[in-house]
Amino acid sequence: MSRILITSALPYINGIKHLGNLVGSMLPADVYARFQRQRGREVLFLCATDEHGTPAELAARAAGQTVRDYCKEQHDIQARAGEAFGLSFDHFGRSSNPPNHRLTQHFAAVLEDNGLIEERVDEQIYSVEDQRYLPDRYVEGTCPHCDYEKARGDQCDNCGRLLDPIELKDPYSAISGSKNVEVRQTRHLYLLQSKMQDRIAQWVNSKPNWPHLTKSIAQKWLKEGLRDRSITRDLQWGISVEREGEKRPGFENKVFYVWFDAPIEYIGATEEWAIAHNENWERWWRTDKGADDVSYVEVMGKDNVAFHAVSFPCTILGSEEPWKTVDTLKSLNWLTWYGGKFSTSENRGIFMDQALEILPADYWRWHLMANAPESDDASFTLEHFASVVNKDLADVLGNFVNRITRFCNARFGLAVPSAGVYGDAENDLIAELDKRINAYTSYLEEMEFRKAFVELRAIWVAGNEYLQIAAPWVAIKTDEDKAAASVRCALNLIVLFAVLSRPVIPFTADKMFAIFSLDPEGASRWPSDASEALSLFKGGEKFTLPDLLFSKIEDEQVDEWRQKFGAE
Ligand code: MF3
Ligand code: ZN
Repeated sequence: MSRILITSALPYINGIKHLGNLVGSMLPADVYARFQRQRGREVLFLCATDEHGTPAELAARAAGQTVRDYCKEQHDIQARAGEAFGLSFDHFGRSSNPPNHRLTQHFAAVLEDNGLIEERVDEQIYSVEDQRYLPDRYVEGTCPHCDYEKARGDQCDNCGRLLDPIELKDPYSAISGSKNVEVRQTRHLYLLQSKMQDRIAQWVNSKPNWPHLTKSIAQKWLKEGLRDRSITRDLQWGISVEREGEKRPGFENKVFYVWFDAPIEYIGATEEWAIAHNENWERWWRTDKGADDVSYVEVMGKDNVAFHAVSFPCTILGSEEPWKTVDTLKSLNWLTWYGGKFSTSENRGIFMDQALEILPADYWRWHLMANAPESDDASFTLEHFASVVNKDLADVLGNFVNRITRFCNARFGLAVPSAGVYGDAENDLIAELDKRINAYTSYLEEMEFRKAFVELRAIWVAGNEYLQIAAPWVAIKTDEDKAAASVRCALNLIVLFAVLSRPVIPFTADKMFAIFSLDPEGASRWPSDASEALSLFKGGEKFTLPDLLFSKIEDEQVDEWRQKFGAE
């Protein structure tokens, strides 16, 4: 069985991420990683902060910190938030760490040796007052397409078009606001992606299993024709343009462009992990060092697809070295906040730290994954969130666990009853579970998360319906053995539910295992058939009464949160 390498798109360093970012890459990647671990696969799941580029420098400036201090602090904040959300990264690295510096400089060197990089003279905006060039977001001005007055050098937030800073009308410095700017000539390195057109097209065509959204974005870029792109910037903070320790003449004040080094950090993070755990990173990345049996899965928002389906492969394939390339590229649409944008500055939407201040991680994890923006953009509303939590988690799953443990305690005590045998009701249940577990497993395997969690919910519902039919509280009046068998079946179901639910609601699953003092690691192996799963407890196993697994969200809470988080 092949090993699985899973990476989530790397979150930008500038500030804690919102629920839309979370469900756009890190959370679905986590669910998949957890699922595959439970299946017994060898998994390496990596993420890191994406720390270079103008957003990092500008955010540090706004915070009154050096970029270095700012990045360190924000990295730790994001790492803690990820952990609190149950994101089970094997390593959460930093694109500013030494392995990425070394690797990025290495790739640039081999690409140049292969004739894929050349120096070109470029026109850039220079601020006389700030005495520096103004790349990307350092310059703002009027959009040439839509006349929006606060367009940024790399992109217009109003019409969404990508821009070159010199296209802006009435440009001014984002640092000082100075309009005393001029176009100057400066040298930059260009990656000659145009030369890679056929190669990349062929490679993309060799990936029949990419999901539709991914494939269509990749094809669109290929159809427009790959353009050479500048991979250096006039900035201080970043990976310096050097070879074998020597700065490149004329590039002393330049660094590599953030989108050149960021994906290379997937490899860098693997090396960071290997150093921390005394492991071998090459067996995950070099096909000449055993990575041939790695299946590599990348998860990201749709705006990242072009970089992963085209640009990063140009780097990797252009090196002509035996690197592993992505096998499955899962991309997601946007989660919106009431149909609009999440925004820190306008206080619209919920950010990861705020979410956990009001409710435990599993409430969010379940709602986000069950309603993941897969086939289309999806809108987050607190009203929908509350109704999903109350119905699925509190009424269906929570209630099942509560009801049967309490009934058992009242009639048989705090141990699984051993009398009686399974009959028709149990066999019908087992048949339905087998069918649904199969479907659920396939959907998770295909990373069709919404469909998967429709099945999981149906599995919980099947448990409740079984209890209605078996009705041990009625049976016990006439046939105590029959009641005992159905209670035993239902207690076994709690464990099966915990196993199946663990990829998405890991904290709750572990509480469910704890009812029976089961060690989650050992108990959570993926089931092969329901009949076996439901005969785990034969009778006599002790348990404790759990607290309520979920509390319902009240209308007053929704009102309060609407105010607090800017819902409209
Ligand atoms: N930071 C980027 C974003 O949030 C994603 C970078 S993914 C990487 O859009 F692979 F390039 F690192
Ligand atoms: Zn515009």
